Amino acid sequence: MVQLALPKNSRIQPGKRHPAPAGAARPKEFAIYRWSGEPGEQPRLDTFTVDLADCGPMVLDALIKIKSEIDSTLTFRRSCREGICGSCAMNIDGQNTLACTKAIEDVEGPVKIYPLPHMQVVKDLVVDFATFWAQYESIQPWLKSYTPAPQKERRQSPAERERLDGLYECILCACCSTSCPSYWWNGDRYLGPAALLQAYRWLADSRDEATAERLEELEDPFKLYRCHTIMNCTNTCPKGLNPAKAIAEIKKLIVEKYL
Ligand code: SF4
Ligand code: SF4
Ligand code: FES
Repeated sequence: MVQLALPKNSRIQPGKRHPAPAGAARPKEFAIYRWSGEPGEQPRLDTFTVDLADCGPMVLDALIKIKSEIDSTLTFRRSCREGICGSCAMNIDGQNTLACTKAIEDVEGPVKIYPLPHMQVVKDLVVDFATFWAQYESIQPWLKSYTPAPQKERRQSPAERERLDGLYECILCACCSTSCPSYWWNGDRYLGPAALLQAYRWLADSRDEATAERLEELEDPFKLYRCHTIMNCTNTCPKGLNPAKAIAEIKKLIVEKYL
């Protein structure tokens, strides 16, 4: 279990300034949240000036450059650099998104980078995902079937397969859940848009035979009904998905149960 030691009521302090390299042709400032993880230490905002003439186009390129050339202690997650693994999710220019698909040129002025909001910070831009993964696990994200397996495969018609479009593409980056006010205030009990979109992904799968038990599990004032259709989730999803619609579909299935 991660030990979290960010001081209570902590305030972000002004941090170190790293000036542009000599002769920089296209200097751009990056203001980045830093917190060492040391007990009692306050977080700070460090400013790094990077020459965009000597840097890749995405925010993740700048973070990697800063880590490689200016401050190797800067800590963040990343893996694929292609918008597929979901690990570089952070708050950039006021919006939760993926650093590897966010173009630097789309940000006017200094690029402000913070960890995903309302998550426990482990270090710098790395947050604790333990609860998020436990919530994902709780929706039992696998095919459940009770009829004997066919000889070859469980087949779907093209129309049945199409029902999974807009659901299977979710990369579990948590941009949606950490932009949702209901998740901020009840993140321990409300499953949040990411886990609920995944829950609907299995409800919508024609091969899954556990619809009744899945709905029974979700029919809970906190797990599902904390969604008030604020739509932050859908507005921020870097994959263009619509978790709010998936949540509405689950509510509809529950209503239909009683008709
Ligand atoms: S729905 Fe979108 S924002 Fe939410 S976890 Fe999936 S990919 Fe990320
Ligand atoms: S629509 Fe629901 S899940 Fe999405 S941000 Fe609003 S309350 Fe949260
Ligand atoms: S590094 Fe994988 S999504 Fe950004």
